[in-house]
Amino acid sequence: MTPSGDNGAAELLPHFKPIASWALFAGALILTFVALVNSSMLLGEDTTPPPAAKPQPLPFSHKLHTQFFKECQDCHEISSDGWTMSYPPEEKCMTCHATVAADRPAINKLAEYAAQKKPVPWVPIYRVPDFVYFSHRKHVQKAKLDCENCHGPVRERDVIVREKPISMAACISCHKEKGASTNCRTCHDAI
Ligand code: HEC
Ligand code: HEC
Ligand code: HEC
Ligand code: HEC
Ligand code: HEC
Repeated sequence: MTPSGDNGAAELLPHFKPIASWALFAGALILTFVALVNSSMLLGEDTTPPPAAKPQPLPFSHKLHTQFFKECQDCHEISSDGWTMSYPPEEKCMTCHATVAADRPAINKLAEYAAQKKPVPWVPIYRVPDFVYFSHRKHVQKAKLDCENCHGPVRERDVIVREKPISMAACISCHKEKGASTNCRTCHDAI
């Protein structure tokens, strides 16, 4: 029995422990990812709760205003690169509101934005993270989907909330149904 032999074993042990716990941690991480992808993401469950109505700077109602416009795209145009939908320009609102309800506080505020050529700071409702590709042109013009597929019965709504999911599961569920690509790189560049 030599002191050096004891030292060797004692030195080995502290190295073994961190390696074992690292392996356990990595294993748990992989299992969690697999479980996440299998259960919630790919099988169509939406894990994100629908957000509550957020107060908008002006009480604009789609239910009221869609009576005057046949097409959603009369107010929301697809940008030239296809990525975003526009909000209506304030001058368009003022074609009516220069006279309609012009004495109301909300319309005074609208008229102020229009006069200063500042866009109304509408609060975003439907947004995907930056690492996701989403093009309205592909879905509206190419796939010929109605806005209602992804935004619900907007014509019946005074206030818009995110009543339809735009989670990965929701995207993939429709892509499967319509035979569109479910390849990770369709929607993500770096994965
Ligand atoms: C008169 C113009 C007008 C028309 C017509 C109109 N919208 Fe809008 N839309 C707006 C304005 C203003 C906002 C911002 C205020 C709000 O969210 O209610 C908005 C917001 C939205 C949003 C939320 C955007 C976000 O940030 O996520 C969606 C979705 C939407 N509209 C869909 C539609 C659909 C679908 C139709 C047709 C059924 C339609 N709109 C018709 C003016 C219009
Ligand atoms: C075709 C005409 C028309 C256009 C264009 C129009 N509106 Fe209106 N808007 C109306 C009418 C009509 C009412 C209802 C007025 C009433 O209650 O007597 C109204 C009501 C409103 C109200 C509620 C006012 C209040 O406090 O009662 C807001 C806010 C409003 N509009 C915002 C907008 C915005 C923002 C736009 C541009 C995206 C817009 N409107 C475009 C006709 C129009
Ligand atoms: C296939 C689903 C889908 C369809 C169909 C669709 N949208 Fe969207 N919409 C989305 C998603 C997802 C976002 C969030 C986009 C982002 O963050 O880049 C969004 C965002 C928006 C916005 C906020 C501005 C923006 O571009 O981020 C508006 C306004 C809007 N949609 C209106 C419409 C209208 C009007 C139609 C019909 C002409 C329509 N959408 C059809 C899924 C859809
Ligand atoms: C209601 C059905 C539906 C929903 C919901 C939907 N998509 Fe799609 N998507 C389609 C269809 C159909 C196509 C094929 C369009 C074509 O090229 O003909 C498509 C095409 C695409 C493309 C272009 C693929 C290519 O090859 O050019 C991308 C990117 C995309 N979708 C991303 C998304 C994302 C991200 C979401 C969720 C936020 C989503 N989609 C939600 C039906 C849907
Ligand atoms: C049809 C579009 C689409 C396809 C295909 C797709 N994703 Fe996603 N993915 C999304 C959207 C949309 C989100 C954002 C979801 C959200 O914000 O709730 C997302 C989020 C993610 C996230 C982040 C998860 C989180 O909780 O933040 C990861 C990781 C991911 N995707 C991996 C993948 C992998 C791996 C694949 C291939 C098996 C894939 N995605 C295929 C649309 C897609």
